[in-house]
Amino acid sequence: MEKRIAVIGTGYVGLVSGACFAYLGHRVIGLDIDEEKIERLKRGEVPIYEPGLDKILKSALENRKIEFTTDYSYAVKNSDFIFIAVGTPSRPDGSADLSYVESAYRSIAKFIDNGDYKIIVNKSTVPVGTGRWAKEFIRKLLEERGIDEPEKRFDVVSNPEFLREGKAVEDFMKPDRVVVGADDRDVAGRVASLYEKLQPAILITDLPTAEMIKYASNAFLATKISFINEVANICEKYGADVTVVARGMGLDHRISPHFLRAGCGFGGSCFPKDVKALINTAKGAGEEPELLESVISVNERQKLKPVEKLLRHIPDLKGVTVAVWGLAFKPETDDMREAPSIPIIKRLLSLGANVKAYDPVAVENAKRVFKEELEKFGERLTFSKDKYEALEGAEALILVTEWKEFENVDFDKLKGKVVIDGRNLWEPSIMEQFCTYESIGRP
Ligand code: UDX
Repeated sequence: MEKRIAVIGTGYVGLVSGACFAYLGHRVIGLDIDEEKIERLKRGEVPIYEPGLDKILKSALENRKIEFTTDYSYAVKNSDFIFIAVGTPSRPDGSADLSYVESAYRSIAKFIDNGDYKIIVNKSTVPVGTGRWAKEFIRKLLEERGIDEPEKRFDVVSNPEFLREGKAVEDFMKPDRVVVGADDRDVAGRVASLYEKLQPAILITDLPTAEMIKYASNAFLATKISFINEVANICEKYGADVTVVARGMGLDHRISPHFLRAGCGFGGSCFPKDVKALINTAKGAGEEPELLESVISVNERQKLKPVEKLLRHIPDLKGVTVAVWGLAFKPETDDMREAPSIPIIKRLLSLGANVKAYDPVAVENAKRVFKEELEKFGERLTFSKDKYEALEGAEALILVTEWKEFENVDFDKLKGKVVIDGRNLWEPSIMEQFCTYESIGRP
């Protein structure tokens, strides 16, 4: 049955969730405080690179299932479910900055009236305990406005997202599970029913448990990556091949073959931020989360492995031109957040190398990230328009992001160069015929 949904925040999560809910037949209002973004969305322009999203957004707009606004009053009055999908960035101490979430609660609370009942759903990743805190926070705001029986005017539910960038639409439409946490099972059931067309596995929990599932899932996946990276580093010392080790491990169904790809570390908007936030939450309660802290420190070291390897072949990089293939934190996205390419390029520049970088879609974002370096190092950092242009005049190549277009290369163009494959993309026995080749955790 069609339900009325408002989604606050039209970033990755909000836009994908809103468009997908509309595609499932619900009536969706997408709200953002950024007027320019809302104008673009009204025209069907997707401001992010996310495969498949433009198609479902266009179809939702054509079917009048989704509309966009900057007006909180309109969004709150015309919806029964209000999803919060605003950012929760890391503060310098690693804790999650909840100011956008808090400001969304404040704006919503301004427009809940006597007789209303709204279900406020946290989709943003918020620290464990936020849902229960939000209940009291919103209740007080309503009380201050003189609303009758404020606690009966709304409920707060946690419905964490598990969307991968680049596969977000697919992940929404075919979820492994839908987790819904609320203090009232019936309310949780109503949120779960929004997904019923997808016939997902549904887990209904209390509020803090749902919030914890999100953090624990991301922290576990990040742990698997740091684990396999550490194993890769040991493999290298003894001539073992980490890709085969991972395959052998993954055949054990208790381990599973996923997220065991060794490489130059994880990045993105979620793993680093969420692991740090969980560390902070743990410490705030007097715990010592040693394992989680190691997940981060192993990853920080791993990101610089390719440079370490390069230095073994070219000990002095002063004046040496190094091509870098792949800037985004992973393929199929233009997202540069916490991308391993950032510390790699910064280190290369600080060691005196000239860097020619190339990425199929992330160059514009990369130019913003490297604004300071572009000013400071001038022509020493340039962005090439294709992968081979980046190789011209380069003595070495570092592959940081395993975009599909890098799989097939003209090997002749790599002749005589030092190639560091940060993602184990290429076959060593082939590469060694053309260049000095090193990858991660393989003999
Ligand atoms: C992740 C979670 O997968 C998703 O469920 C959550 O909602 C948000 O965070 P995302 O950040 O889009 O999604 O990226 P993901 O595909 O999970 O990859 C994260 C990082 O780990 C990338 O930098 C990737 O290169 C790296 N990675 C992944 C590895 O190094 N090895 C692997 O085996 C898998």
